[in-house]
Amino acid sequence: MSEAKLEAWLDETRSFAPSPEFARQANAQPSIYAEASADPVAWWRLQADRLTWTTSPTQTLEWDLPFAKWFSDGTLNASYNCVDRHVEAGRGDKVAYHWVGDAEGETRTITYAQLQKLVAQAANALSELGVKTGDRVAVYMPMIPEAVVTMLAIVRLGAVHSVVFAGFSADALSSRILDSDCQFVVTADGAYRRGSASPLKPAVDEALESCPNVKAVLVVKRTNGDVNWVEGRDHWWHETVERQNDVHTCESFPAEHTMFIMYTSGTTAKPKGIFHTTGGYLTQCATTYNYVFDIKPESDVCWTAADIGWITGHSYIVYGPLINGVTQVMYEGLPDSGGKDRWWKIIEQNKVSILYTAPTTIRTLMKWGDQFPKDHDLTSLRLLGTVGEPINPEAWMWYREHIGSNRCPIVDTWWQTETGAIMVSPLPGITATKPGAAMRPLPGIGVDVVDNNGDSVGNGEGGYLVITHPWPSMTRGIYGDPERFKETYWSRFPGKYFAGDGAKRDEDGDLWLLGRIDDVMNISGHRLSTTEVEHALVGHPAVAEAAVVGASDETTGQAIVAFVTLKMSADDAGKDYGPVIEELRLHVAKVISPIAKPRQIILTPDLPKTRSGKIMRRLLRDVAENRQLGDVTTLTDPTVVNMIAGLMETNASGED
Ligand code: WT7
Repeated sequence: MSEAKLEAWLDETRSFAPSPEFARQANAQPSIYAEASADPVAWWRLQADRLTWTTSPTQTLEWDLPFAKWFSDGTLNASYNCVDRHVEAGRGDKVAYHWVGDAEGETRTITYAQLQKLVAQAANALSELGVKTGDRVAVYMPMIPEAVVTMLAIVRLGAVHSVVFAGFSADALSSRILDSDCQFVVTADGAYRRGSASPLKPAVDEALESCPNVKAVLVVKRTNGDVNWVEGRDHWWHETVERQNDVHTCESFPAEHTMFIMYTSGTTAKPKGIFHTTGGYLTQCATTYNYVFDIKPESDVCWTAADIGWITGHSYIVYGPLINGVTQVMYEGLPDSGGKDRWWKIIEQNKVSILYTAPTTIRTLMKWGDQFPKDHDLTSLRLLGTVGEPINPEAWMWYREHIGSNRCPIVDTWWQTETGAIMVSPLPGITATKPGAAMRPLPGIGVDVVDNNGDSVGNGEGGYLVITHPWPSMTRGIYGDPERFKETYWSRFPGKYFAGDGAKRDEDGDLWLLGRIDDVMNISGHRLSTTEVEHALVGHPAVAEAAVVGASDETTGQAIVAFVTLKMSADDAGKDYGPVIEELRLHVAKVISPIAKPRQIILTPDLPKTRSGKIMRRLLRDVAENRQLGDVTTLTDPTVVNMIAGLMETNASGED
């Protein structure tokens, strides 16, 4: 659709009515919103019965703001709920995962019965290595079935997984291991990306130089590369796991038992260890997966195209889908591993019916062109989802037209690592959809848009997104730092959870998410803090000072632009700074991850600061996005900004 056509359409039609194909859901749940809002706590108690409890909870919510307990006297086992109960119910032959490797033709099919055995063996192996209830285990793995098996085996033992995205650096891994005192690491020798093997184990070895408490490392052989081996500490998966008994009788744990930690960037340099507990988290994963995707476990093939290293992978590749007993596709590679039509081949070959991914990927696929999806049979698709950042109407319409044949509803789902599961989204068959809008809070969830004073805004107005009452999968806190938890989320608007996002209610009262309003950037759906990147930059010996902003970017949503002041000496005048800029970009990649590499580094002799010495990021963002500069009256030296704006035009840009 051309831009003009799109605009005309948006003006006239503005929304898509619920698709009749989804009438089953509408008929089965005609009053779902009304029922849930009449008594959200009671409604969630009913949803908890989606799980198999060893002891059924009689308590529902205990709320000591901001600390919630859900279903606290219930007991259960997360892994049993994901796997064993399906086998016991006679569904053991059902496929849990169609795993698709980076290389074309490399596939593995794993049924629920096979998954049960794999998880039992892994749980037995972890026990043998000394993992006990409550222990933290770091997982640093590529997208292979063993990653899912490992997560399930850890929670089966009542231990706590901390999955670290395999794209993170050794430094990032070690700081996460240290923060939650993980004593075990599960990893692989390497990973495949677009046909070539890239090593993972060296990053673990490097990280562990500063983590003396790690007792054992379990290593999957994936790429068959040479590895450094520490006798007594390192154990091959194929030698340790495969010889184990494939039966494991599991214990039950209280609903509030900690299940996992997931690190995410906040507004400071130190990532926050967001932790989740068992009963409430699983209840909301199961419920949202069921309603938002209107799943039909008998026939659906679901593909959440995300990485298990992020919360989307936890909630919608592992826990939500497995609890619902669906068949999934799990893909190891990149969208163009083996060609730019790889995704569409995977959908065609596996008859994928539900596709869930991030706007940044949709924009990339859109940029590659319509011919790639057109050459494939995508008629198996019936529902499309997006998550991770605001989706622009153009990408939404492309997704609808070229992938969903104008037939599949699109669910734009808003949530966060902290919320654990989806919070705001249309429900197919029940709510209308609008390109770019997440529409309304899910049943049982209370969301509001408020102004600076915490008062609700009217229709047609914007403000801050807040969550007005506790929900089952809410984070129980920041690992080891309850004060920071209160301060970050609960102090801005007393009694309400402050998400950090801007939002708007349109004339119909529907919700539009507008992106972060704090110093958190969203790069290709990955969350990074400006301070974290600044911290990495000033850690380089040549850097005196750095300021980082997220500037809007056509493909990645936001991109990192860094303003850097170097420590200069007199003979540096006239030097070629190109190599310095490149070195700084690589330095950030090494300290954090390649995803944190600035798109652009602007060297500047000075940074704009307020009279109290705070760097004015807002102005820098204006400069980075070539906007008219706002109010500069509180600056110490307003000329600095204009000078930087001039430098933007002349400075070498580090475009890849
Ligand atoms: C931040 C949370 C939720 C899993 C992936 C990201 C942004 C997320 C949407 C959406 C607009 C969205 C928000 C949020 N975000 N989904 N549908 N529309 N923005 O999890 O890394 O914890 O990031 O992602 O800014 O605060 P996360």
